[in-house]
Amino acid sequence: MKVVGIIGSKRATGNTATLVTSALDEIKRHGIETEVVYLGEMSISGCTGCEGCAKTMECTIDDDMQKVYPLIREADALIVGSPTYFYDVTSDMKAFIDRCYSLVMFDAGDRSCWVGAGNLRSPQPLLGVVTVCEQSDVSNIRFTADVIQLGLESVGYRTIGVVKAPNLFRQGEASEDGGALDEARRLGARIATTLRLQEQASLLV
Ligand SMILES: Cc1cc2nc3c(=O)[nH]c(=O)nc-3n(C[C@H](O)[C@H](O)[C@H](O)COP(=O)(O)O)c2cc1C
Repeated sequence: MKVVGIIGSKRATGNTATLVTSALDEIKRHGIETEVVYLGEMSISGCTGCEGCAKTMECTIDDDMQKVYPLIREADALIVGSPTYFYDVTSDMKAFIDRCYSLVMFDAGDRSCWVGAGNLRSPQPLLGVVTVCEQSDVSNIRFTADVIQLGLESVGYRTIGVVKAPNLFRQGEASEDGGALDEARRLGARIATTLRLQEQASLLV
C-alpha cells in the first residue's frame, strides 16, 4: 500500500507542504508507505489539448509529468495540496490537474460519457485535499479545493476529506497552527483507516 502527496506550492517548506507532510506522517504511523512529489521542483507544462491521449490514455508531452504518472497509477491514495493564489490553485497545481486529462477516456460519440483510470481500479483510489489561504475568512479559498476535488473525482478518485486552512501567510506558519495540523493528521488517519478497511472488506466480497 502506498500514499503519494502532491504539493502544489513552490515553497518546499511552506504551509501546504507542512500540512500535506503531517497527513503523510500520520499515514506512515499506520505502517503505510508514503512518497512526496514537489511540483515546484519539476518542469510540468500545461495540457496542449492535442487529444493525443484520446485513444491511448497516455500523454504525448515528454516532461517531468512522465515521472509522476507511474507514481499516481500505483498509489492507493493521493493527498493533493495547494495554496490559494487569487481564489484558485497555483499554476503548477493547475498544470498537474490538466495533465491528468490523459487518465480520462471519453466516448467518441457522446462526450457526456467518460471513464477515469481510477474507476477501473479495485479498490477505487482515495483522495485527500489540503488547501491553505492567507485571509482569516475561509471562504477566500473559493475554487482552490473544488478544482482539486472535482478534477480528481473525474479521474476516478473517492474523496475522503478536504482540509481548508485559513489565516496562514508566512512560510512555516502552519507548523504553529494546532488546529490546522490536527485537521491534516485527522485526514491522514481517515485515509489510513479507509485503506485498511478496503483491504479487510475485499476479502469478503
Ligand atoms: C500570487 C499569490 C496569490 C495569492 N492569493 C491569495 C488569495 O487570493 N487569497 C488568500 O487568502 N491568500 C492568497 N495568497 C497567500 C497564500 O495563499 C498564502 O501565503 C499561503 O499560506 C501560501 O502557502 P505555501 O506556504 O504553501 O506556499 C496568495 C499568495 C500569492 C504568492
